Amino acid sequence: MPGQTPLTGRTALVTGSGAGIGRAVLERFAREGARVIVADRDAAAAEEVAAGVGASARYVIVDISDETSVRAAFENLGAEGWAPDVVVANAGVQLFGEDDRVADLDLEVWRRTIETNFTGTFLTLKYAVRTMRDRSGGSIIVVGSPTAITGEGADFTAYSASKAGIHGLVRTVAAGYAADGIRVNTVVPAYTETALVTTISDDPTAHSAIVGRIPLGRAGTPRDVEGVMVLLASDDGAFATGASFAVDGGMSTL
Ligand SMILES: NC(=O)c1ccc[n+]([C@@H]2O[C@H](COP(=O)([O-])OP(=O)(O)OC[C@H]3O[C@@H](n4cnc5c(N)ncnc54)[C@H](O)[C@@H]3O)[C@@H](O)[C@H]2O)c1
Repeated sequence: MPGQTPLTGRTALVTGSGAGIGRAVLERFAREGARVIVADRDAAAAEEVAAGVGASARYVIVDISDETSVRAAFENLGAEGWAPDVVVANAGVQLFGEDDRVADLDLEVWRRTIETNFTGTFLTLKYAVRTMRDRSGGSIIVVGSPTAITGEGADFTAYSASKAGIHGLVRTVAAGYAADGIRVNTVVPAYTETALVTTISDDPTAHSAIVGRIPLGRAGTPRDVEGVMVLLASDDGAFATGASFAVDGGMSTL
C-alpha cells in the first residue's frame, strides 16, 4: 500500500532496548511503522526510551535470566493486546574478572555470563515461540557476537562460550518451528562502542587492537545493524531462517 513502511502492523519487542544496540533497533522499528515494546531490567531506562518513542511504544521490566519474569512479561503483553510478532533477543552482558583466561576464570563470572547471555536468550526464545505458535508465526532475531565464531581474544572465555551457544540454539529452534511460520535468525554486530564494552573502549591500547582486527577499519555503531534487523523483521526477510548475518566490518569472516 502506498506510504506503508516495512513494519506497519507489526508489534516488536526488543530485550535490552533501554540502551545501546537494542535501543537503536527499537527506535528504528518504530520509525518503520511498528508498535514497540522496550523490555529491560533497568526500569528508568526502559521508561525513558518508551516515552521518547511516544504512543506507539510501551515498556516492560524484565530480567531475561529469570523464567518467572520472562513468562509474566509475555503473558501480560498477550492479555493486553500487545503480543509481539517480532522479538529481538538482544539483552546481554560482558563481565570480566581478574584473569579471564580459562585456567583462572572465576566461576561466578562464568555463571553470571551464561545465565544472562545463554539461559536468558533460551528463555526469551521459549516464550517468544509460545506466543508466536499460538498466532500466525513471527520473526525472532538473536544478537550474536564475532567472538563466538573467531575465538577472538583470550579474555572472552565466558562471553564467547555464551554467544557460541546462542548460534547453535538459533539453528535448532529455526528447524523446530519453521512449520509454525516462525523464523529465527542471528545478527552478528562488530565491536560497538556502547556501555557494554567500556572496559575495552576506555583503554586506548585494547580499543586500537580490536579495531585493528576489523577489516573495514572502524568500530561498529548501533546504526550499522538496524537495516538488517528491519529486513529480517519484515516480509522482505520471509525466506530467511536459521541463518547468521554478520554486519561486523568483516571481523568474523575475513
Ligand atoms: N557492544 C558490542 O561491541 C557488541 C558486539 C557484538 C554483540 N553485542 C551484543 O549486543 C547486545 C547488546 O549489547 P550493547 O552493546 O547494546 O549493550 P549495553 O550494555 O549498551 O545494553 C544492554 C542492555 O541490556 C540490558 N540488560 C542486561 N542484562 C539484562 C537482563 N538480564 N534482563 C534484561 N535486560 C538486561 C541492560 O540493562 C541494557 O539496557 C548484547 O547481546 C551484546 O552481547 C555487543
